[in-house]
Amino acid sequence: MADLDGVKDSKEFHTGVPQQAADFFLKGSSHYDWGLKNRLSRIFDPQSGNTVMLAFDHGYFQGPTTGLERIDLSIVPLIPWADTLMLTRGVLRSLIPPASRPSIVLRASGGPSILKELSNEEIALDIEDAVRLNAAALAVQVFVGGEHETKSIHNLTRLVDQGLRYGIATLAVTAVGKDMVRDAKYFRLATRICAELGAQYVKTYYVEEGFETVTSCCPVPIVIAGGKKLPELDALTMAYNAIQRGANGGDMGRNIFQSDAPIAMLQAVRAIVHGGETAARAFEMYNTLKNEA
Ligand code: R5P
Repeated sequence: MADLDGVKDSKEFHTGVPQQAADFFLKGSSHYDWGLKNRLSRIFDPQSGNTVMLAFDHGYFQGPTTGLERIDLSIVPLIPWADTLMLTRGVLRSLIPPASRPSIVLRASGGPSILKELSNEEIALDIEDAVRLNAAALAVQVFVGGEHETKSIHNLTRLVDQGLRYGIATLAVTAVGKDMVRDAKYFRLATRICAELGAQYVKTYYVEEGFETVTSCCPVPIVIAGGKKLPELDALTMAYNAIQRGANGGDMGRNIFQSDAPIAMLQAVRAIVHGGETAARAFEMYNTLKNEA
């Protein structure tokens, strides 16, 4: 039987202690609702403020690209070292163990293959399915300056509206057309448009000159794409420089899964993104782990 008197006596009202409102750690995200903040906290580590996303959604327009021929063999073993998996719902349902710990960012746009005009995408996912799959964010390609610029931006704004209804974030991915210059001026324009139109975070490419101006004038977090496979030290140097210049992490694919030692590479990237290691020390770590494997 409950000890009612005891319960009364043990009450502590702390009348002299003002209640503190916990601040939110992520750039530009303090005014969101609880569910959205919670999902963002499963993408971005509240300790470091950064994320290591593993991107392997390339098949949605490229088919079985190098390293992704057998996702069950090449990617599933990497899952424990990623904060977030960025993938299509087809691969999620068919190949990814539901007990996996990383948060899920679902590819939500699609349509054209590499044989057609890539900017001609539509939204390719119903928000209800994203809820069913426990997605933390939806990823949409935005083609600023591309042939179907307006349509891709409309895809972004529709996803933002749908995501806000359920507290699911939208990741805008700045896609650069073949004939466009990849420089800080372009990425300032593209990332800022994505943020202004409601994306909760933006993925873009790292540029050596002026990257800090891209991150500084984008009011929400920026993560970098890895891009084409580079030698491991170069990829780690890019990750280090991006973090130093204001990125909140990376969403890397080919530089991880096309590496000779993908698990070692993922751990080395983590050391930079979460541990503040230099590229040189992370590369040493990569070599040690690679030789141990
Ligand atoms: C490409 O559009 C996909 O969204 C990839 O997720 C993205 O390019 C990142 O992968 P990677 O590091 O291989 O460039």
